[in-house]
Amino acid sequence: MATVLLTGGAGFIGSHTALEFLNAGVDVVVVDDFSNSSPKALDRVQKLTGKSLTSYNQNACDAEGMRRVFANCRFDAVVHFAGFKAVGESVAKPLEYYRNNIDSALTVCELMREYDVRKIVFSSSATVYGSAKTMPILESFETGRCTNPYGWTKFMIEQILLDAAKADPNLSVTLLRYFNPVGAHESGEIGEDPLGLPNNLAPFITQVAVGKRAKLNVFGNTYPTPDGTGVRDYIHVVDLAQGHVAAYQHATPGAHIYNLGTGKGTSVLEFVAAFERATGVHIPYEIVEPRPGDVAVCYADPKRAEQELGWTAKLGLDEMCRDAYNWQRKNPNGYRD
Ligand code: UD1
Repeated sequence: MATVLLTGGAGFIGSHTALEFLNAGVDVVVVDDFSNSSPKALDRVQKLTGKSLTSYNQNACDAEGMRRVFANCRFDAVVHFAGFKAVGESVAKPLEYYRNNIDSALTVCELMREYDVRKIVFSSSATVYGSAKTMPILESFETGRCTNPYGWTKFMIEQILLDAAKADPNLSVTLLRYFNPVGAHESGEIGEDPLGLPNNLAPFITQVAVGKRAKLNVFGNTYPTPDGTGVRDYIHVVDLAQGHVAAYQHATPGAHIYNLGTGKGTSVLEFVAAFERATGVHIPYEIVEPRPGDVAVCYADPKRAEQELGWTAKLGLDEMCRDAYNWQRKNPNGYRD
């Protein structure tokens, strides 16, 4: 049976992806240091699938510890999620972000070479496009001009992997550029569990919905968009997770880049309205100053993933809101209960 290594596999996207790999009949090994995730997510993945996985409490930058993981098991592929991911924090702690994110990626790549593992799928972000001039965004658009260190780490790791693929004709590199992942598994057993004040829109709204926060701050309403608020391409995390399985199944030597998005743009106020419709819960909000570094509009052209991977996002805003709320209601304090 095939086995994949998921670094950061206990996190929001990692845990949903672990579940989809197990459901697809692929064995899963997770490496996670649980610095921003919980082992409970992995227990629940196993309960939901009725299958077991192996996990290591291990930082992906620690080459000796990671070598033991590679020595214990032969992997067909690595899906590399592990990394720091808070945009604002990355501005305050750039060195920590560059050290952690670049170091873990290099460590994984070096061990893949040492143990002859030939496929890597990397968790990249639409942030690498910076402020694109036209929409929707195609994979061929220029990257760079990121607005924060977090974004630059994604950009730099993409470059490292593209160069590694050039140098080694046996290597398969797939860069998945996520748009805005939201939602949760429909069971409400696994979901997004941010530490402290949520930076992202969906977890903030679900915390307002369960009474943990009084209101949503909407960052600006004078953008050149129909209602003046920022437009994004929200994608259900289960669709996103299935995109990783498709990328793994189609991986061939060389470099491949895919946008994982729905192709539909939704404004902040449209998202709030969709949430209220799907859940019946009122979300009070206030318009405040725009957030530095935010772009007005960002949505994908996801056709390449459809043509080459046979993957499309199937779930809509209703399911994203319903499932995010269901998770938050069942787990008001995330995994900390
Ligand atoms: C950000 C990052 C992206 C990262 C993603 C997921 C940048 C520029 N963006 O995307 O790389 O992959 O997070 O972690 O690097 N909003 C509010 N109030 C809030 C929160 C958000 O109005 O309390 C608005 C924002 O202004 C934006 C939209 O909601 O218009 C989505 O914001 P967010 O969920 O933070 O994602 P992005 O900024 O798009």
